[in-house]
Amino acid sequence: MVERPASVVKEAVENSVDAGATEVRVSVFEGGKVRLTVEDNGEGMAFGDLPLAVSRHATSKISSVEELGRLNTLGFRGEALPSIAAVSRLEIRSRREGDDEGGLLRVEGGSRVLHTPISCRKGTWLSVEDLFYTLPARKKFMKSALSEGRRISALIRDFAAAYPSVAFYENRDGKDGFSTPGDGDREGVLRILWGRDADLRSCEAAATNLKLECWWAPFPGKTRSQVSSFVNGRVVNDSVIRGAAGSICRPYPGNWMFLFTLDPELLDANIHPAKAEVRFRYPGEVYDTIQQAVLKLSGDLPVLPAGGGGAFSP
Ligand SMILES: Nc1ncnc2c1ncn2[C@@H]1O[C@H](COP(=O)(O)OP(=O)(O)O)[C@@H](O)[C@H]1O
Ligand SMILES: [Mg+2]
Repeated sequence: MVERPASVVKEAVENSVDAGATEVRVSVFEGGKVRLTVEDNGEGMAFGDLPLAVSRHATSKISSVEELGRLNTLGFRGEALPSIAAVSRLEIRSRREGDDEGGLLRVEGGSRVLHTPISCRKGTWLSVEDLFYTLPARKKFMKSALSEGRRISALIRDFAAAYPSVAFYENRDGKDGFSTPGDGDREGVLRILWGRDADLRSCEAAATNLKLECWWAPFPGKTRSQVSSFVNGRVVNDSVIRGAAGSICRPYPGNWMFLFTLDPELLDANIHPAKAEVRFRYPGEVYDTIQQAVLKLSGDLPVLPAGGGGAFSP
């Protein structure tokens, strides 16, 4: 489901990461309402495979139902590009390493208007123009360019933190924005995101089925926190994590980042169409590991308030 420009960016960047890109550039015009492009240096697509990429349920990432349970890629359903192509003017230029020529595919409102060989650099360039021009009602539902643009920025920042080995570049309305070096140093990325002088703390925690890497930079004198969470490299906004973080971290305002790793078989990532919600088989372990991490980082035992949430803006 494509809800807004940020959903397009999320799907495209996930594809870039899945394609092994070490550089991803996101350019956004008018908050992505007019145009957005995502360019990567990943493995690219063969000329002949381009139409497949925009046909429903064509994915190069899964070949059997059994594979679904132990999937390591972010995408697997082959639904994102077709959904985007159906509601916008989509252009893809792509070339694989070793191919003499690349390909260009243009789809408008779901109909293919051009498929031609071109010369282009290795990797994939994807451009989405006039998002929702086929759906005037949905188009009206989009927020201001500023607000949509902010969501996209926040998303790119989350990806940059989740993938420190990938260099991310953001361009907004022709101006260079945020970027990361892609040198694999997560602490360096967090210093870019949270401030060079942030009092950065990190630790690891584990339960039987779950590992957590946790980062915290306290906001002295403030009461609210910002939390980002990732599960197996996927940017998620999950109610279990939100609830646990909201109550356990409440006494410790700051920037929090939780990176969970678990066996993909213990996770149902297919529950939400945009994959922002996950279902943990052992949600108690999410609480346990966050509790352990907060204890280690804060040096004392947090008092668990009744209820939770409230003080948290994810
Ligand atoms: N940036 C990219 N680089 C290489 N291949 C891509 C890229 N984006 C999309 N593809 C190809 O297009 C297919 C469809 O993409 P998508 O609709 O997002 O489905 P999924 O990611 O679930 O497979 C992918 O399986 C992949 O083969
Ligand atoms: Mg995908």
